[in-house]
Amino acid sequence: MSRAAGIASIAALLAASVFAASRNPEPDALAQPRPAKQVGLPPQALHAAIPADEPLTPEKIALGKKLFFEPLLSADGSVSCATCHNPALAFTDGRPVSIGIHGRAGQRNSPTVLNALFNKAQFWDGRAATLEEQAALPITNPSEMGQPTLDAAVEGIAAIRHYRHEFVSAFGREMNDADLVRAIAAYERTLVSFDSPFDRFAAGDARAIDDAAKRGWDLFNTKARCNKCHAPSESQRDSTYFTDFDYHNIGIGILAHDVAGAWRTAERELAAGTLESVDRAAIGSELSVLGRFLVTRKEADTAAFKTPGLRNVLVTAPYFHDGSQATLWDVIDHYNKGDGLKDAWLDEDMQPLALTESEIDDLVAFLASLTSAQYRALGERELARQRALAQTSRPQRDTARAFGPKPPRFKPPAP
Ligand code: HEC
Ligand code: HEC
Repeated sequence: MSRAAGIASIAALLAASVFAASRNPEPDALAQPRPAKQVGLPPQALHAAIPADEPLTPEKIALGKKLFFEPLLSADGSVSCATCHNPALAFTDGRPVSIGIHGRAGQRNSPTVLNALFNKAQFWDGRAATLEEQAALPITNPSEMGQPTLDAAVEGIAAIRHYRHEFVSAFGREMNDADLVRAIAAYERTLVSFDSPFDRFAAGDARAIDDAAKRGWDLFNTKARCNKCHAPSESQRDSTYFTDFDYHNIGIGILAHDVAGAWRTAERELAAGTLESVDRAAIGSELSVLGRFLVTRKEADTAAFKTPGLRNVLVTAPYFHDGSQATLWDVIDHYNKGDGLKDAWLDEDMQPLALTESEIDDLVAFLASLTSAQYRALGERELARQRALAQTSRPQRDTARAFGPKPPRFKPPAP
């Protein structure tokens, strides 16, 4: 080894140990279950998001919270759910893609768990139907928590007395894998985060957001066409969900890949069609770029991903399923040029928007106004950070295309 390489590897080792020590956040005030009454949160929306056969009880929630922060659920005791969903970072990890046990990098960006109870399906490709089904997958994914089975995770905590008591008091029986994910899901259903300046504005306080954010909200529903996907219906303004609960290809990351080859590999590797095999492909392989295709095996779903809700989006950078965009300015630059020119599966609603610089700033101001009260200080720091970055770097900006005509559609390759 050369001397420089030796120094570099010592530096890497030091960085790795500091990294390991900081990887398991403690449950702090931001990890507390949130109140059911928040500005902007319609009581019927909350009611509809809690399954009738999985009532929330204080015992289940308390147990689920402990489990969410429990690194012993992972194969080597180093990674908890909170490693990648850190309350201090609005339940994300702030990285482009997440890193599991043994420093294994996955293919996807960690979405926030805040308000995940409102999702119609979980994950960027919707492969899990419920929070319970979702919670089992990272525990056994080799790139995440790395357990051979869910039972192994239960065994990993079986020796800890308080858990045995808490399972019995929450579920009235000995600990088991189904109750493990039930408890975690119960805790996640308390992570409701509304109460943003925008919510106060929508509730009638005209001074809760500034004029730029108000103009941004209008643009969102008109010229910028965001409501085509980030609203349950195009005809009515939605101030609750900011998603259509559907999947779209918006031109992120597919072009660098041999799509026809990836389809064939996916057909072969996912022949058994188990949820676990889809999960492994999505997190741990290049097939990840196929998005919703991995779930439905329909060509039209190639590189389609779930429309995320936009609450707290300012504090959940970087953006998109692959964490490829650093700032909200980059995200809007992407939409403004109608990116994905040669992407045959690009959604019909992607097209050049001709947004001016001040209109882009207004949209960012609106998105920033969706930051919940708990993350206000973080949001202010983050907005300053992103603004400074955007002043020196706008890699996605392409003004000529943004103001140009809608390009012709590209033909899919032969399968
Ligand atoms: C190594 C990092 C990592 C760990 C550990 C981890 N997650 Fe995640 N989580 C992710 C990533 C990355 C995604 C997105 C993956 C995808 O969509 O394919 C995700 C997705 C989710 C989602 C879906 C959210 C949405 O909007 O679709 C939920 C809920 C979630 N995780 C909860 C958990 C729980 C509960 C645990 C612990 C049992 C956990 N995660 C452990 C990284 C992690
Ligand atoms: C054609 C449907 C569609 C339209 C139109 C659309 N979006 Fe999206 N949006 C999506 C989908 C799908 C994703 C996730 C894509 C991915 O990660 O590959 C997304 C992701 C985002 C993200 C990143 C969120 C995160 O957590 O990473 C932001 C921010 C966003 N959109 C804002 C906007 C804004 C602002 C507009 C209007 C200028 C807009 N979107 C228009 C469908 C759409």
